Amino acid sequence: MKCTIHGGRQFVIGSVDKRIFGSFLEQFGRAVYGGVYEPGHASSDDEGMRGDVIDLVRELDVPVVRFPGGNYVSNFNWEDSIGPKEERPTRLDLAWRATDPNQFGLDEFMRWTKKVGCEAMMVVNLGTRGLAEAREMVEYCNHPAGSTLSDLRRDHGADEPYGIKMWGLGNEMDGPWQVGHKTADEYGRLACEVAKALKLFDPNLELIACGSSNSEMDTFPQWEETVLDHTYDVVDYLSLHMYFRNDEDDLPTFLASSKRMDGFIDTVINVCDYVKAKKRSKKTMYLCFDEWNVWFHSNEQDKTLEPWTVGPHLLEDVYTFEDALVVGCLLNSLLRHCDRVKIACLAQLVNTIAPIMTEDGGPAWRQTIYWPFYYASMYGRGEVLDIRLEVGTYQNPTYGEVEWVDALFVHHQREQELVLFAVNRHPDKEVSLALELADFDAEVIEHVVLEHNDPKATNTRERPDEVAPQKRSSAGLTLAPLSWNMVRFTVKG
Ligand code: AHR
Repeated sequence: MKCTIHGGRQFVIGSVDKRIFGSFLEQFGRAVYGGVYEPGHASSDDEGMRGDVIDLVRELDVPVVRFPGGNYVSNFNWEDSIGPKEERPTRLDLAWRATDPNQFGLDEFMRWTKKVGCEAMMVVNLGTRGLAEAREMVEYCNHPAGSTLSDLRRDHGADEPYGIKMWGLGNEMDGPWQVGHKTADEYGRLACEVAKALKLFDPNLELIACGSSNSEMDTFPQWEETVLDHTYDVVDYLSLHMYFRNDEDDLPTFLASSKRMDGFIDTVINVCDYVKAKKRSKKTMYLCFDEWNVWFHSNEQDKTLEPWTVGPHLLEDVYTFEDALVVGCLLNSLLRHCDRVKIACLAQLVNTIAPIMTEDGGPAWRQTIYWPFYYASMYGRGEVLDIRLEVGTYQNPTYGEVEWVDALFVHHQREQELVLFAVNRHPDKEVSLALELADFDAEVIEHVVLEHNDPKATNTRERPDEVAPQKRSSAGLTLAPLSWNMVRFTVKG
């Protein structure tokens, strides 16, 4: 099969904000306990932070990590998670029905971000708490000195303010499962007042209002409109969440998941722009896709877990090769919307629906989905080209007409590179690429491919490299059946 890609230097969607390659560390399951934090582990430092995990997170070059939730945040008391560890209370986390000894809290997270070299996106609890606690948390974190809360932080060993710029105003407040769930009006009013107070503290903070938990919610997209009616002038981003599943084992539909993500983003953009028009506003609302991933493998196993344990094996999806293909397509969808999606967080980072898996007391390894994320994060920074594809399609009952190839080009002017990210969705046909890139004189530097003859292949402790990228000869430029590909080209000028 042939795929012709048409494009040119002057046809650009937008510049990629590197924060599109962010991730998410929720305080639940073994994300923290046994994930990033395991005192006594052979690789852990004197603070109990696992060095093998730090190395992998650094390798991914994740620019921003969201913390501490997720559903967890809606019953989180930030004050419980600071100060001497032996004095911290043990709390029940109602969201995940687990016990949290608060041994890795706000201060530890901020020190961990320094070790991995990322920024923090902190989420405030707008479920069981409200404006007072949010403004106190921000003051504790960001005020240099001279107030009781900022001096408390200094007493806890952080002389310098944390300088956290990105703040999430609650999590999935539209969801009936959320502790402290609210109607759009209730949440919109509260988010507006919290945002006003935080901006009085520092007008440069970047604030994220909760959009819908997914596009299947009955309240979507009315939720977005109402929340933005309240908050448009005082927040900077609207959040989106979406998870993808293949529990019917229907690969053609699963592989077209990026169509659902595209549609969700496009609808949210339309609602944002509608509110902008209603308000006669000059401001553009940007999007923060702060939870996205494949999530379904662990659902049955999670039903068997004992409640109220510390660090249960929760949401430990073991990802397959086909999941990696879908993650590749989802990354392309985010990049295709880089003019509006400025921040995104792969949910999550370690153990819980994550690219990195660990064993307590044992090794850490890369799941299949690690690879498309790694390469996008490494090479997907630049300008996304507005290309057109000429390629065959298949009919799908859920998504209609689906192209056999999902492709995207990033132009990195400084490096004089063009980078192609492409997934061949066809189960048994190779695709030969023809590039019609008008004013680019492009020459292949490298072709990296992720392929496997078993779509259900996984990476495990015993076989951590079962699904791993391979270098391909550049001759011919073909995409193997069912494969994820990255091709780097040098370009002149
Ligand atoms: O990422 C797992 C959970 O998914 C988060 O806690 C919640 O926000 C979402 O429903």
